[in-house]
Amino acid sequence: MEWKQQQHLMKKLVFAVNGERFELSTVEDPSITLLEFLRTKTRFKGVKLGCGEGGCGACVVLLSKYDPIKEQVEEFTVSSCLTLLCSINGCSITTTEGLGNSKDGFHSIHQRFSGFHASQCGFCTPGMCMSLFSALINANKTERPTPPDGFSKITVSEAEKATAGNLCRCTGYRPIVDVCKSFANDVDMEDLGLNSFWKKGENANASRLPIYGHDGICTFPEFLKNEIKSSMDSFSHFPLSNSDDLRSAEVEPAFNWYSPVSVEELQNLLKSEESEVEKRVKLVAGNTGAGICKEYNDIDEYIDIRGIPELLVIRRDSTGIEIGAAVSISKAIEALKEEENTLSGSRGKLVFMKIADHMNKVASQFVRNTASLGGNLILAQRNEFPSDIATVLLAAGSSVSIHTGSETVLLRLEDFLKRPPCDSRTLLLSIHIPIWEPVRNSSSNSRLLFETYRAAPRPLGNAVAYLNAAFLAQASTDEMSEHVILDNLQLAFGAFGTKHAIRTRKVEEFLAGKHITAAVLLEAIGILRATMVPEEGTLIPYRSSLAVGFLFDFLRPFVEHSMEPKISNVISGAEIFNGHLNGHSNSLAHKASENGNHCGDHLERPDSLLSAKQVVETSQEYHPVGEPTEKAGATIQASGEAVYVDDIPSPKDCLHGAFVRSMKPLARVKGIQFKSTSASERILTVISVKDIPRGGMNIGCKGLVVGEPLFADDLTEYAGQPLGFVIAETQRYADMAANQATVDYDMENLDPPILSVEEAVERSSFFEVPSFLSPSPKQVGDFSKGMAEADHKIPSAKIELGSQYYFYMETQTALAIPDEDNCIVVYSSTQCPENAQVVISKCLGIPHHNVRVITRRVGGGFGGKGRRSLPVATACALAAYKLRRPVRAYLDRKTDMIMSGGRHPMKINYTVGFKSDGKITALHTDILIDAGFSEDVSPIIPMKVIDALKKYNWGAFSFDIKLCKTNFSSKSAMRGPGEVQGSFIAEAIIEHVASTLCMEADSVRKKNLHTFESLKLFYEGSEGERAEYTLPSILDKLVLTSSFHHRAEMIKQFNGCNKWRKRGISCIPAMYGVAVRPTPGKVSVLNDGSIVVEVGGIELGQGLWTKVNQVTAFALGRLWSDGSQDLLERVRVIQADTLSLVQGGITAGSTTSESSCEAVRLACDMLVERLMPLKQRLQEQTSALSWDNLILQANLQAVNLSASTLWVPEHKSAKYLNYGAAVSEVEIDLLTGATSILRTDIIYDCGQSLNPAVDLGQIEGSFVQGIGFFMLEECVTNSDGLVISDGTWTYKIPSVDTIPKEFNVELLNSGHHKKRVLSSKASGEPPLLLAASVYCATREAIKEARKELLSCSGHDGSSFTFQLQVPATMPVVKELCGLDNVERYLQTLLSHQ
Ligand SMILES: Cc1cc2nc3c(=O)[nH]c(=O)nc-3n(C[C@H](O)[C@H](O)[C@H](O)COP(=O)(O)OP(=O)(O)OC[C@H]3O[C@@H](n4cnc5c(N)ncnc54)[C@H](O)[C@@H]3O)c2cc1C
Ligand code: FES
Ligand code: FES
Repeated sequence: MEWKQQQHLMKKLVFAVNGERFELSTVEDPSITLLEFLRTKTRFKGVKLGCGEGGCGACVVLLSKYDPIKEQVEEFTVSSCLTLLCSINGCSITTTEGLGNSKDGFHSIHQRFSGFHASQCGFCTPGMCMSLFSALINANKTERPTPPDGFSKITVSEAEKATAGNLCRCTGYRPIVDVCKSFANDVDMEDLGLNSFWKKGENANASRLPIYGHDGICTFPEFLKNEIKSSMDSFSHFPLSNSDDLRSAEVEPAFNWYSPVSVEELQNLLKSEESEVEKRVKLVAGNTGAGICKEYNDIDEYIDIRGIPELLVIRRDSTGIEIGAAVSISKAIEALKEEENTLSGSRGKLVFMKIADHMNKVASQFVRNTASLGGNLILAQRNEFPSDIATVLLAAGSSVSIHTGSETVLLRLEDFLKRPPCDSRTLLLSIHIPIWEPVRNSSSNSRLLFETYRAAPRPLGNAVAYLNAAFLAQASTDEMSEHVILDNLQLAFGAFGTKHAIRTRKVEEFLAGKHITAAVLLEAIGILRATMVPEEGTLIPYRSSLAVGFLFDFLRPFVEHSMEPKISNVISGAEIFNGHLNGHSNSLAHKASENGNHCGDHLERPDSLLSAKQVVETSQEYHPVGEPTEKAGATIQASGEAVYVDDIPSPKDCLHGAFVRSMKPLARVKGIQFKSTSASERILTVISVKDIPRGGMNIGCKGLVVGEPLFADDLTEYAGQPLGFVIAETQRYADMAANQATVDYDMENLDPPILSVEEAVERSSFFEVPSFLSPSPKQVGDFSKGMAEADHKIPSAKIELGSQYYFYMETQTALAIPDEDNCIVVYSSTQCPENAQVVISKCLGIPHHNVRVITRRVGGGFGGKGRRSLPVATACALAAYKLRRPVRAYLDRKTDMIMSGGRHPMKINYTVGFKSDGKITALHTDILIDAGFSEDVSPIIPMKVIDALKKYNWGAFSFDIKLCKTNFSSKSAMRGPGEVQGSFIAEAIIEHVASTLCMEADSVRKKNLHTFESLKLFYEGSEGERAEYTLPSILDKLVLTSSFHHRAEMIKQFNGCNKWRKRGISCIPAMYGVAVRPTPGKVSVLNDGSIVVEVGGIELGQGLWTKVNQVTAFALGRLWSDGSQDLLERVRVIQADTLSLVQGGITAGSTTSESSCEAVRLACDMLVERLMPLKQRLQEQTSALSWDNLILQANLQAVNLSASTLWVPEHKSAKYLNYGAAVSEVEIDLLTGATSILRTDIIYDCGQSLNPAVDLGQIEGSFVQGIGFFMLEECVTNSDGLVISDGTWTYKIPSVDTIPKEFNVELLNSGHHKKRVLSSKASGEPPLLLAASVYCATREAIKEARKELLSCSGHDGSSFTFQLQVPATMPVVKELCGLDNVERYLQTLLSHQ
């Protein structure tokens, strides 16, 4: 090819990882990402795969570039799952392993993650560490004054956002924020949360923190700098552009990666590629688009455009700023912000600053660092991507320069967007944003207005907006009338389900030159609604109302200004201000209200600062049990050394598997075809039901009674069901091939699938609930009598609850290795290795003792790896058994979300009777549970729902509950299974009664709270002793410590004078029954005195190992009554192994930690019994006897130093109740429906906590997961029941910016519980129920909004019985606040005029 001859050919791809040199002379497939390379070809497994779409941050690494001319290193984070390997030529990569490790010493970031208890399962931690590291080093590069020793130049407010965009499903983020803040030079150390560096009451002092040396880490090794420098002379493998950006050189065709250095070269290259038929060639800049359009992952050749100087320009002149299309969003933000310093006076600054602020909400830092402006606009133009950038640039009157092959054309952005999708050969060169300044005319006070808006589920970004907008206008005052007139309007809207961002010309024309009054605005809104119509199926009413809200917010000051003072008094809170919606409402107005400033809808809101308080009481009774010790393994989790299943190096000849899934819910499968692609060409085989060996069974999962098939045999039973298991040499090829499979179905003569519980009832499609699992008692009191006593009745009210997906950061994974004599070893990320062993042995038709299942740690389970891990483990085992080669699988996020089921959806119908004072006299509920197509653990759910529903004294209580078999994926246990729904139903009934009676919901709650007597009636057998019923005192205490009544008053005031924001507060109790189960434990002391412990329980992040360590040290330490031998450091809990410790059972139900502790304590007792006589004998000879000496002597005297036991709890005391309560205060935005959680206070009874730090983490983490269920997470299916919320784009778990802004948790030490394990109580699941307080507070706020709405419409507003859907997402809240509330408000204004 001619163009190639003009270039200096590059021979190799050279880069560094953690200071090590890597040189590749070929890359077989240019689509390989940095993540895949690091994880499969290096030993650096710290970098994790969480989503593969740029949406979670698990894969974040630091990328450093060296500029040999300036001799400067530039460092920034990237998502390695989207960064192509070939694009890092000449770069240096730092992963968390590069910061420190267990051998050479950990980095202070690692140590602080551990010390602040900020790592639970640890799967997110390496990515978090790298985001923080990058924030610290970049802050240190600023000109700010040198911070005191041990601190970075980062500020608290920056530190809080340092990890925004990184998701964590375990911790609830609060401790992670504390880690980040601990580095900030303006931090108040007293504000930092519970940690292991200082104790309560001790001086919180920076010197106690692990030392932060400012830049001890070399991010760019000298050898690479030298190579780059010398390449400038010899021009070998690092050619440099004449811009200051180091660009990747053209890599030889062996890499299929080209880096042209001019537009001409690029065009020549494209021409030459035209002749090569069927080659998929892609222009690439940051490649983050691959996170959006997955087809980008199957490309033959890439052309990296970041070496073309024209595409990297940032040029300013008197007309504006020109930004090259390949400039990253981060760099564009910097450039726009720099305008503040370069532009004189106020010229253009407003527009540039607002655009920069808005861009800061696009994706997350680690995406923005490589995502280019041009890439974004091309995605918007070609792929209908709902871009923010297109919208804000459109309103700013930007233009683009494109090269179409033959010519360069300058186009207005609007015209560019409107063109037919540009072809793959069109090159976007640059974007020009003009300088805007007020038009000078006769009016002296002409003003430029520019505002941008965005309504998205996450305030700080990392969520595509429901709608974005940007408005520009010139405002001037008409000298005659003194009215404000707008001109030159540019109103742009985007992301509302149309092809691309648009200008609303008709509205612009209508408003131009008009005096903005309520009537004019109302008419403009009418035009807007008529002209801006979102496409079918895209939340039309909500998006339209958002558009109205944004326009209203922009123009409101003028409307209010235009009114007579007496009328503007009618509108409360009429302070003029606009743009509060920019980047989602993020109100800290409560801070202002605390300062006594209650009114003013539109306070300038500073960036939010999170605050938190933890109250824990430690106990010395069983020392070191009760100490808040650091989580075992937290530092190695942070440093990336902790080994998860997918981190185990692949054995020789290892293959990879991926499921081919059905797309139909009920159909016969006639055949499976694979398109001919590079991936399908690499399919080695497809394992299916035919490969199950003789004597084996088609089983992939265990139910309580009935199992679940591994593969659909001839009939699929839900959309998403595995049909086969594609085997290929890499995971990526297996995934791609499986996703490209097309399946032939035949539905002739089949009944229609059951896709609702109602249809299940109609067709009597149920699972049986064995009698021992039936809820009991079957009823309490006499329902008819209770109803007869009632003054009021609500007959037949309905509630509907959807599902929730686990979103563990580590998806389902297993590695199966065939062993001698028909044995197999399976490493599985499972909460129940024993079940995996049973199912695998049944599937393969071999005895249990041929199957060894090993689990060391699990990257988050939440119930989802109890049973749902089994199909993956079994498929790997079957494939390995058949092929006699190791086979592993790591499900991609989409497959995981489609197959894993999740929480049980339910439909509830209730009838309730109650007195006028709020006392409920009778309740009957009919509940239909959607269990999906297979049994799984569903038969336990009815009991759990009913148990939790009994949290109030209903007087008489009866129920009917059915477990429906449908053609959806099988639902399984998810944290608080059944209990969350049951508890919520109870709260919904209370709220309904309160609304009907126009009473405060909290007084109805109080009225119906159990006495100990009623508790005994409803919870026969698990009520415990009277003194153990701590709930009433918890509630009393919480009301005081949270200043509930005072705040309720303040909220009334706030609501009285704020029209567009309303607040609500709610206090919720939780009552949660758990049961301890038989659990094994084994303790062995080795020759050197070190101790090895095996337990049935699995470390899922819940701190089980930590508690077991503590109990072991306590129990063996009893050999020394003076406690002089601190054994904690000597204990190591090791992986679960089904052939080493049998009867391991399942880790679930919140009690496995305590059960494992008790089993271990008993095993230790056996050892103590054996060692005590020896110790006494030895002590007679020498008074100072150490542990080491004792063990030495015990070995010499052949004392058995290994003890194992199966702890079987006493049947009578196996069940017990847990108590807690929460108060939450929220603020809703009536224009967008956004909810901000202003404050949450929790008190939770942990008994005598085994480890307060661990329990605190469980409480905060589960509460935040509950926020997800009640407020954010929507599991959406299509008409076939296929899950379509199947990735980070569509499924939004809580992020750091959606947690309570003030988060206070108190662990109540309720003293001695003689029947509990060392007096402790469970903490893993019950606090999740408390998140209903956020939902109920939202409901309260909506009530206030509806009052306002009804007052606008002239109603009295006394009826507030409305259904608030779960989750109460922004569209749901907005709908209840009134999709037309703006219009109604304006009409009211008009009627007052
Ligand atoms: C997790 C995540 C969240 C996001 N959230 C948002 C959001 O909230 N709002 C928003 O607006 N955007 C968002 N984005 C989109 C993001 O801004 C774009 O992915 C990014 O800007 C694309 O740039 P890139 O350099 O990575 O493009 P690439 O992935 O390299 O390319 C994308 C496409 O554009 C083509 N292309 C790239 N540059 C040119 C050029 N100069 N000329 C011609 N063709 C070109 C490529 O061939 C390819 O087809 C998000 C992205 C991710 C991954
Ligand atoms: S794995 Fe890369 S961002 Fe999620
Ligand atoms: S610790 Fe963050 S995902 Fe588990």
